[in-house]
Amino acid sequence: MTARLVDGIAVAAKIRTELKERTGRLATAGCVPGLAVIMVGNDPASAVYVRNKIRACHEVGIHSSRFDFPSDADPAEVLACIRSLNADPTVHGILVQLPLPKHFSVPDILEAISAEKDVDGFHLYNVGGLVVGSTVFPPCTPYGVVKLLEHEGVEIEGKNVVVVGASNIVGKPMALMLMQREATVCICHAKTRDLAQFTILADILVVAAGKPNLIVPQMVKTGAVVIDVGINRLPDGRLVGDVDFAGVSQKASLITPVPGGVGPMTITMLLANTIASAERRMS
Ligand code: GUN
Repeated sequence: MTARLVDGIAVAAKIRTELKERTGRLATAGCVPGLAVIMVGNDPASAVYVRNKIRACHEVGIHSSRFDFPSDADPAEVLACIRSLNADPTVHGILVQLPLPKHFSVPDILEAISAEKDVDGFHLYNVGGLVVGSTVFPPCTPYGVVKLLEHEGVEIEGKNVVVVGASNIVGKPMALMLMQREATVCICHAKTRDLAQFTILADILVVAAGKPNLIVPQMVKTGAVVIDVGINRLPDGRLVGDVDFAGVSQKASLITPVPGGVGPMTITMLLANTIASAERRMS
């Protein structure tokens, strides 16, 4: 079997066209959606993500504002910035780019963001919403994966799903979102013994572990749908996912490439959450 390739760039472009129509309708009603991005320090990967997020905002008609703090910033200054953005009616979404410097308490920062503007979906209120199935802001990467599965017509209900990676940003919310869609979900993580005994059962395998070549063909059921969320830079500069793409493509029925699979969807869903926030305010 040779897997069909999921073109995340094309799916993201289609969704962004729809988002542009929504910002057009909001503008006619007198509202420009606003996203505030807070960056602390100068982590090079974060700098690239933040630049891309801001560029994407402009492309779909979202006004973005950026707030930069040095890596030795006092957390109280960042909290004050968040509070003023919470109170600003022109701001519909606030995100603090992670990771933060070690002297910051990430929970304190994330809980300071108004749950109504938490477009990353990281506030405990929104995490709780995800648990009980009444999500306000689905976290962007797992939201993007669900959109890709829907776009490709992959049935989720009743399927065996294995999620590899249990992070707060991807693995845990991914598992909850697929459980909400009535899949049978198993989460594996760094301490899982004999990963292959779980992955081989997956009709849908979602991998977000941050380890190149973690998933090899022997670990994948013939015909499985394989979603690779990993983004790893190899010493030779190549960007790869967590899945042995060449090998697993010969066994899966559908697979996402890296780059060009899940990656383009993450920022797209951030834009979608920001626009949804503005629409909610207007309604
Ligand atoms: N760092 C890595 N991924 C993310 C994300 O989705 N949101 C934020 N705020 N920071 C991140």
